[in-house]
Amino acid sequence: NGQSTLRPINSDVAIIAHRGASAYGPEHTLAAYKQAMTMKADYVEFDLQMTKDGQLIAMHDETLARTTNAKDLYPDRAPWRVKDFTLDEIKRLDAGSWFNKAYPDKAKTEYIGQKVPTLEEAIEFVKLHGNGKVGLYMETKAPNVYPGMEEKVIEILKRTNALDDEKLFIESFSEDSLRKLKTLAPKVKLIQLYTGTMLAGKDVYQEMQRISDYASGVGPSKELVVPKLMEAAHQNKLLVHPWTVNSQDDLVSMLSLGVDGEFTNNPDLLDDLLKKP
Ligand code: G3P
Ligand code: CA
Repeated sequence: NGQSTLRPINSDVAIIAHRGASAYGPEHTLAAYKQAMTMKADYVEFDLQMTKDGQLIAMHDETLARTTNAKDLYPDRAPWRVKDFTLDEIKRLDAGSWFNKAYPDKAKTEYIGQKVPTLEEAIEFVKLHGNGKVGLYMETKAPNVYPGMEEKVIEILKRTNALDDEKLFIESFSEDSLRKLKTLAPKVKLIQLYTGTMLAGKDVYQEMQRISDYASGVGPSKELVVPKLMEAAHQNKLLVHPWTVNSQDDLVSMLSLGVDGEFTNNPDLLDDLLKKP
């Protein structure tokens, strides 16, 4: 049956802290990254956007509206697109207070006034506080909006001495972006992300075989993770890192299917399940 080639639950499964330990602190702030490392994450995940003056920052959305006080500080600049603001302007924003208002039971005074990190700051912070053991896992978000972002990612990884790190992944929903990265840095490990729509109507084995040309693994939405996908990925030597897995039941269910890592807002829950030393 389809289960026979699945691997047993093992402690090598990577704990990937999604936007930091984002269930506990404001996503993509150094406070949330620190919390992730305290909770024994193996990797800190960050999404990348680019400012008007070409600086890469860690932020999920293409606009500043949801996770900063941009609407208050810059009321006339709707819709607050990252690409329309300089880094200097973005550095004046508070990226933590929204979390305290949205989640009063998890609010902390230290979150007030958290800054939006640049990619370079995020890398340096994880390297310093992770004692060189915590990995970097970064996503080129909206690469069509930000021409040249791949070159900048690789340049910054080189400048911070992170490009040759064993624990480094770059992920994207964009195959074009990943292929550019492959050309720029052939050894870097790339993860092709998938939504359900992206795999609809495709032969999953053929798709995994095709992308194994440039990717080291896949990041499917958790609903896509079924034995057939697991087998197709592993037969093509691709890692499987589903997103975003937050409940205990879902974390266990993914482990039982044999995944190689999980993106989670709750790295502590996955650590408890894996019982890593
Ligand atoms: O990168 C995996 C997962 O994070 C993709 O979803 O929207 O949270 O970046 P998103
Ligand atoms: Ca992401």
